[in-house]
Amino acid sequence: MRASSHRVLVADTPDEAAALAAKMIARELTSPRASTTRHLALAGGTTPRQSYRLLTHLIDDWRTIELWLGDERMVPPDAADANARLVRESLLEPAAIAADHFHPVPTHLPVAAAAAAYGDEIAATLAPDPCGLPRFDVVMLGLGEDAHVASLFPAASTLTAGDVCVPVVDAPKPPPQRISLSLPVINAARCRIVLATGTAKARALTAALGEPTPTAPASLLRRDGTVFVVDAAARDAPERD
Ligand code: 6PG
Repeated sequence: MRASSHRVLVADTPDEAAALAAKMIARELTSPRASTTRHLALAGGTTPRQSYRLLTHLIDDWRTIELWLGDERMVPPDAADANARLVRESLLEPAAIAADHFHPVPTHLPVAAAAAAYGDEIAATLAPDPCGLPRFDVVMLGLGEDAHVASLFPAASTLTAGDVCVPVVDAPKPPPQRISLSLPVINAARCRIVLATGTAKARALTAALGEPTPTAPASLLRRDGTVFVVDAAARDAPERD
């Protein structure tokens, strides 16, 4: 693993990156700084699965940890592409975490109602930061090839929403209907860990580390408290034309 000049930790392989992300999540959740009850927002997609599996071995006692989703597709909870299913299969079940410690999105509701309900649940459960935003201890994120994070896509109006959660109806990454934590809530977290591996993420990572711009939502993440955990393929890939 090589630390670069940015807030980027570079592992040699995807598995090493996954392990590093898992260790960082565990460390943040068990640090003295963490609130008594700790709140972790989990990423969706495919990259985090290995990190979740490893996390089951890194934390012995999950009774003071509450698990949330940073975003969710508006699909049934047992659908193959449901982020809740990813979390159940790779973390909740292997770690025998009690179901009441996991807060899935009410995807049976219409998308706007689901976003409002989830946001209300988060706001009612998490202690606020000095600006009154619900504060997660850790938000884990993946990175889209277009530099989206959660379900906040390039140049989307959701990037400027001030709610806790936002409905998405036109996601360029299927399915189109999703809900996502808003950018202010993601940035209010004590720590953001962005896991990205593979050459397909190289361009997005470069954009994420560049000047803040709505065309690359990852570049809008608060610099302080954000770390990108990547493999060499994502960090060192030659720029494609
Ligand atoms: C989602 C994710 C999304 C994901 C990125 C990367 O629900 O789609 O939250 O933000 O993290 O698109 O996806 P992969 O890990 O599959 O490359």
